[in-house]
Amino acid sequence: MAYGSAAMGNHIIGTGIAQPPLEVTNDDLSRIMDTSDDWILRRTGVARRRFVAPGTGASDLAVEACQLALDSADLTVDDIDLLVTATMTPDYFAPGIAPLVHNKLGLESGAAFDVRHQCSGFLYALDLADAQLASGRARTALVVGAEVHAGYLRFGQNWDVLRGRTDTINAADYAASTDSRGWAVLFGDGAGAMVLQADERSGGISTSALHTDGSLFKLIHVPGAGFVHQPWLDGTQLDAGLHLPHMDGSSLFKNAVRLMPAAVREVAAADGRTVDDIDLVVSHQANDRITVAMRAELGVDVETAPSNIAAHGNTTAATLPILFHELRSQGQVQSGDYVVFTAFGAGAHWGAIGYVVP
Ligand code: UT7
Repeated sequence: MAYGSAAMGNHIIGTGIAQPPLEVTNDDLSRIMDTSDDWILRRTGVARRRFVAPGTGASDLAVEACQLALDSADLTVDDIDLLVTATMTPDYFAPGIAPLVHNKLGLESGAAFDVRHQCSGFLYALDLADAQLASGRARTALVVGAEVHAGYLRFGQNWDVLRGRTDTINAADYAASTDSRGWAVLFGDGAGAMVLQADERSGGISTSALHTDGSLFKLIHVPGAGFVHQPWLDGTQLDAGLHLPHMDGSSLFKNAVRLMPAAVREVAAADGRTVDDIDLVVSHQANDRITVAMRAELGVDVETAPSNIAAHGNTTAATLPILFHELRSQGQVQSGDYVVFTAFGAGAHWGAIGYVVP
């Protein structure tokens, strides 16, 4: 079911992104596992991705993106009374990153909470912030998606090859990376933030439709490092790689190309519009072939449903705000535009949110 927003408009008044320093191309990856630039480009559309150095957490990327979003909104932390963070790669198992970001940004008041919703994390975070603003519980919200997937990647000593510190390939780490190549080549690190404010201008977030089908949870999940196990984490799990994502890529693909366009149509219809009225579809960037299939299903062109996965890889909860920030910075988000955000990912959770640019 789709839900509409209340009388005031909740507007995106600032955006910012953070990109870690280490850029890794497909050719770089081909040195440390059995893969190729050709395979990765053809099957995923990813050309390069970035990774953090050890010691940098999702909270650090989130803080950088939030600060830039505040600057672009011409606001300071004192104006913020709500912080919503989305990540599947928190600095610590507990607490989440919201209190860390709250503290590092220098926020002194206001609620802060985490959303653990993986690829649709930012969509859910945006919806929750919108609902808090609409109910009057907050006036100005920071919403940020941040991920550091580097810790999941089994590159071992071959990280030093990617960092230019050696040319010597460790054979055991090469084998481990090749073992996980089906998903390892997809992901990258990054963060994107938005400042949302309730005001009386027309437009703003219009409708959201969020969905969950828990029967699909095994399509992508981390089977170990959880409290269904006693102890919750041990060496046996680590040896079996149960602390890493397990993914049925093909089933995920089929669900994503069906459910994202359906959610986009659902939101457009609830807003009294059709797909032809959509100026911009800002979609989760999991695989460019998914975006291509979504465009075909909706009958829209690449300008209406752009992708940026080539430069970032799949940054999970950060894909939507990074893509929106880039489009906004390039002048591709215009006053009066009808924008629909959509995502699909682990859970399975998916949905869409409509937004009219003031
Ligand atoms: O955002 C989180 C949610 N994730 C997704 O939405 C992911 C959705 N799924 C996908 O993006 C795609 O399914 C993948 C990119 C993960 C995989 O693409 P695929 O076209 O489904 O490939 P596949 O897993 O069926 O593998 C095809 C072949 C296999 O070889 P054989 O068995 O045909 O000989 C794999 O071993 O490609 C091989 N392969 C690779 N070869 C080179 C798999 N990964 C690689 C690789 N490099 N990185």
